[in-house]
Amino acid sequence: MSAPNNQYDPVEVTPLHPDEVARMRHEALAAIAAASTLEELKQVRLAHAGDRSPLALANREIGALPPSARADAGKRVGGARREVGEALKQRQAELEEERDARVLVEEAVDVTLPTGRLPQGGRHPVTTVAERMADIFVGMGFEVVEGPEVEAEWYNFDALNFLPDHPARTMQDTFFVESPSGGESGLVLRTHTSPVQVRALLERDLPVYVVAPGKTFRTDELDATHTPVFHQLEGLVVDEGITMGHLKGAIDEFVHGMFGSGLATRFRPSYFPFTEPSAEVDMECFVCRGASVGDPANPCRTCSSEGWIEVGGCGVVNPRVLTAAGVDTDRYSGWAFGLGVERTLMFARGVEDMRDMVEGDVRFTSAFGMEI
Ligand code: PHE
Repeated sequence: MSAPNNQYDPVEVTPLHPDEVARMRHEALAAIAAASTLEELKQVRLAHAGDRSPLALANREIGALPPSARADAGKRVGGARREVGEALKQRQAELEEERDARVLVEEAVDVTLPTGRLPQGGRHPVTTVAERMADIFVGMGFEVVEGPEVEAEWYNFDALNFLPDHPARTMQDTFFVESPSGGESGLVLRTHTSPVQVRALLERDLPVYVVAPGKTFRTDELDATHTPVFHQLEGLVVDEGITMGHLKGAIDEFVHGMFGSGLATRFRPSYFPFTEPSAEVDMECFVCRGASVGDPANPCRTCSSEGWIEVGGCGVVNPRVLTAAGVDTDRYSGWAFGLGVERTLMFARGVEDMRDMVEGDVRFTSAFGMEI
């Protein structure tokens, strides 16, 4: 800004010359008229009415004029700025109106169009929950693998260290598959997803980090808590330096991902021929968090006031299984788990009766939404 100078005549300060002010005004109005979008108008506003616009800079020169010349220059510049301001406001309103009209046309929805009459159906919640469970392990770097539902006895039992007369074979209440001639076929409907452990070890290079979701079969009667066809999610890790600590960590991650963070888990000693040591996995009841234990006044239906909910079995892979699959047990070790999908669905989604899961009533399925 120039210092006050009494010798100055306003017309001699170029930016304040009437022709110059008229030119700035004209340029600004032309730019405003030419702006065809709100975005363009924003740029025009900055260039012609902003702090560094020619008219704003001219306005600052007024202070440097002799007092007698200020009123005249002020009127000229002020008038031009007001006019530009008005034009901006008007153009803004016009462009907003245009945009609103355009949006109304472009985003119109014809609510009278006919809808699809056929219901679209929904995927079965057992499938979607099994996928959610597998996804949690995929997030930890596991791969998803599959195996057949009609399985060779060798994979289902022998390779998993069930000896021929092992009581566990009958303990599993197996559906045996007859050969076409009526005799033994050597095939069973798999009683668990653990045979996929052996298949994965035989088919893949080490290390192995896999989960195997799938259908399993046992000769149970169908009731509220049993079904002869059910689902498991098998997990298997075989690598160097693998410990049960990694198993506990992976199970914790699963429980937290599926049921909520901060829930405790515990391992209870158990027995499976293919793991040693073996454990049942429990998680803290996510409803009462143990508060119902020993408090008959506040029973918990979710955990039957036990404070814990069983979610599956697990253990360190028995070296005999690794040997049957050709793995060098001096170098490698591993662990495995089997989680119940129906149990997870019951607890995670509040399904109380297993029969709802197998009866195929679409009213049950669709209540779980259109998850795909
Ligand atoms: N296969 C076992 C069952 O069906 C579960 C399990 C899997 C246990 C893997 C240990 C390791 O009960």
